[in-house]
Amino acid sequence: MTVGGAVRVPGDKSITHRLLMLAGLARGSSRIRGVLTSLDARSTARCIRALAATISPLRPGAVVTVVGRGTFRAPGASLNCGNAGTTARLLLGLLAAHPFRVTLTGDRSLRRRPMWRVTEPLERMGAGFMPEAAATLPLTIRGGPLRSLRWDLPVSSAQLKGALLFAAAAGGVEVSIREPGGLSRDHTERLLRAFGYDVRDRDGRIEFRPTGTLTPIDVTVPGDASSAAFLAGAALIAERGSIRIEGVGLNPTRTGFAAVLQRMGGKVVEEQQPEQCGEPFGALEVEASELRATEITPLEVPSLIDEIPLLAVVAARARGTTVFREVGELRVKESDRLALIAENLRAVGAVAEARGHDLFVEGSDTPPRGRVRTDGDHRLAMAFAVLGTVTGARVMIDDPACADVSFPGFRGALRSIQRRS
Ligand code: S3P
Repeated sequence: MTVGGAVRVPGDKSITHRLLMLAGLARGSSRIRGVLTSLDARSTARCIRALAATISPLRPGAVVTVVGRGTFRAPGASLNCGNAGTTARLLLGLLAAHPFRVTLTGDRSLRRRPMWRVTEPLERMGAGFMPEAAATLPLTIRGGPLRSLRWDLPVSSAQLKGALLFAAAAGGVEVSIREPGGLSRDHTERLLRAFGYDVRDRDGRIEFRPTGTLTPIDVTVPGDASSAAFLAGAALIAERGSIRIEGVGLNPTRTGFAAVLQRMGGKVVEEQQPEQCGEPFGALEVEASELRATEITPLEVPSLIDEIPLLAVVAARARGTTVFREVGELRVKESDRLALIAENLRAVGAVAEARGHDLFVEGSDTPPRGRVRTDGDHRLAMAFAVLGTVTGARVMIDDPACADVSFPGFRGALRSIQRRS
């Protein structure tokens, strides 16, 4: 395949969730441009509306207006978080500070994912859960006055860190959090600082003091680096050509994938432009490249956690065996991603294996052919669609439409960069 052209990606999913929640809790009217309109973003909007904020329809290109009341009100029914782990975990943080009972649920995939890593520290802060020691959805939270917390997270995770920071901000208490490995994405810290909260890194801990106030905002969401990664991967494994991806968030806690691709010999250049929404921002220039295998270290994993499916399919086109160390967290994503990456790579004729918490992928020149099972996991669908762009490939994906969870218009965007050789 040959690639070319300039392309944009939809708004950042992590930042969209957070902005809809914080604007929904602030008193007054916020305006947000570039909001992601995917299924996950709609799940957050639906939940926040049920908590008595007003959010205008999420439509591509539309400015979204959010009118909050300075607090949430008890919803009339349970809140359905759909497929979105971020919606469920961050909302639990905000709800921990609200004195009413509310039940959260989600789709089959979300009901399988661990919630105890959030409910346990929130319980220490003063929230109540039903069933007690609630480990998965559905669960009922009863919030109220909170106390300060010092907590060591069991895994580096922006959802867990974000939930505790949201609880502390909504409850007006201090928290001190340690992440055990590399730093996870820091969008929550950046946003809370913008509202005047004191959030510092001190001796490897994130220290939060409730010095700020949530006020209405007027911002533009940067394009999602995780969505950009799929198009970048397609360009790198192409035979020739280059693409430019415009308007992307370039937060270093998100761009670990670009560093790995560069290490593999990939021509990926980050062009920094002025910050957007308090985030590093710019464009990515990506050129078809000869790729070689690499090793992804445990410390890097949080900065590329969502890009492992893409990196794995790129590794399947590189010279040598790429090793992903300590990626066991993938087992509790939207699917058992670790098992399914390996299984699907084998299904299309590649050599790959998940052993313990590690993943091994051998590169090959043979066109991939076979059927891919996604279990409804958007990132698997997109990664294998990228692999399917290889000349001579025949990759059949069981549920290509599930890409809409994070990247509406993905298939069109992928087609738009393809040129006839
Ligand atoms: C997210 C954090 C990541 C990521 C998810 C979005 C967030 O999860 O996988 O897609 O917005 O906080 P963990 O931080 O739990 O690994």
